[in-house]
Amino acid sequence: MGLAETFLKQTQIPETYRNASKDVLTEEGWRLKEQLGSRIYIPGHHYQRDEVIQFADDRGDSLRLAQLAAAKKEADYIIFCGVHFMAETADILTDQRQKVILPDRRAGCAMADMATIHQLERAWDHLQTRFGDSILPMTYINSTAEIKAFCGRHGGATLTSSNAGKMMQWALTQKQRILFLPDQHLGRNTGVQLGIPLNDMVVWDPVRESFEGDAGEHTQVILWKGFCTVHERFTAENIADCRREDPDVQILVHPECDYEVVRQADFAGSTKYIIDVIDHAPNGSHWAIGTEMNLVNRLKHSHPHLHIRSLNPMMCACLTMNRIDLPHFVWSLAQIAAGTPDNIISVPDAVARDAVLALERMLAQS
Ligand code: 13P
Ligand code: SF4
Repeated sequence: MGLAETFLKQTQIPETYRNASKDVLTEEGWRLKEQLGSRIYIPGHHYQRDEVIQFADDRGDSLRLAQLAAAKKEADYIIFCGVHFMAETADILTDQRQKVILPDRRAGCAMADMATIHQLERAWDHLQTRFGDSILPMTYINSTAEIKAFCGRHGGATLTSSNAGKMMQWALTQKQRILFLPDQHLGRNTGVQLGIPLNDMVVWDPVRESFEGDAGEHTQVILWKGFCTVHERFTAENIADCRREDPDVQILVHPECDYEVVRQADFAGSTKYIIDVIDHAPNGSHWAIGTEMNLVNRLKHSHPHLHIRSLNPMMCACLTMNRIDLPHFVWSLAQIAAGTPDNIISVPDAVARDAVLALERMLAQS
C-alpha cells in the first residue's frame, strides 16, 4: 500500500486518548492487557518507545519478530508495536483467523517506501535484457509485501540484518548475481564482508532507471538505491569527532550505515548484535553507538556502568517507529475489548501466497 493510501485509511483516535495523561493511559493499558489475556499477543521492536515497549510480551529485532509471528498460533489479535512492513510480515506468517493490528497505520518505513513493485518490475525487465536469467532477487525484510512476493515468485528470499551474510551466500549458490533490495548500504556492507570486491557491486537507481557505476559481466551484486533515513545520518565526521573527544571510545554501528562509517567503526552488526556487544562490554568501557535513538537511550539507562552515547549527538528517534505512542496503543486495546478492532493490516491472499515463499526460504536458513 502506498503512503497516501495508508494515511487516508488512518482512523483519528478520540481526543480523550490524545489528551489523557501518561499515568492514566499506562494504568488503562495494563488493565486492558490483563482483561484481554491470551486473546492478544504483543510483539515489540527494539526501536519502540519505552512507554510502549513495556507492554510487549516479547521484544526482538526484525528476524526474531518474524520467527515469533510464525510460532504464535494461539492469540486472536497480534498488536504489532513496530512498523508497517513488520505487521505485514506477521500477517503473512500467522494463521488466517489471526488479525494483526498496527496501532497507528502511519507507522511506515522510509526505506521500504523506496522500492515500489512498479519500479521493481521495470528494473527487472531492464536487468533481464542486460544479464539474462542470471539474477536472484533478494529483499531486506524492510520492504512491502509486494516486493517480498516478487522475490518469492522468482526463487529469491527475504533477509534481515542478522542473517544477511548467510542469505547472500545462499543466494550466490542459486544464481550468478543478486539483485539486493532496497537498502544499498546493507547490501554493500554485507558484500564486502563476504569478500566481494566493491567494483563487482553496482547501484541501480530506480528513479533514473539506470546504473550508477560500471555494470558488466563481473557484476555480482546489483544494489537498489535505497537507504534508511535514520542510519544514513551517521557520518565518518561523527566518528572522527568522537575519537578526538574520547580516545578510549569504541564505535559500534548498524550495517544500514554507509560503507565508510562501517569501515571506520570498531564493530558493526544487527540490532541483536549491538545489544549483545553492550551486554558483554567490560565495566567502565566507552561506546558511541550508531543506531536508532530509542534503543541507544534504553541501552544507556540499562547499562549505567558503561559510558554510552549516540555516535551523532544531533540524532533523534525514527519518526515512524515513534508513531506507535501510548494513546494509539491503548486505544487499539480498547477497540479490541469493545469488539470493534481497528487498523487491521491484511495482505491480499495472492500477494501473501508468494511472499510467504520468500519468508520461509529465510526462516529455513535461520
Ligand atoms: P533489525 O531489526 O534487523 O536490526 O533492523 C533494524 C531496522 O531498521 C528495523 O527497521
Ligand atoms: Fe525504516 Fe530506518 Fe525507521 Fe528502520 S529505522 S523503520 S529502516 S526508517
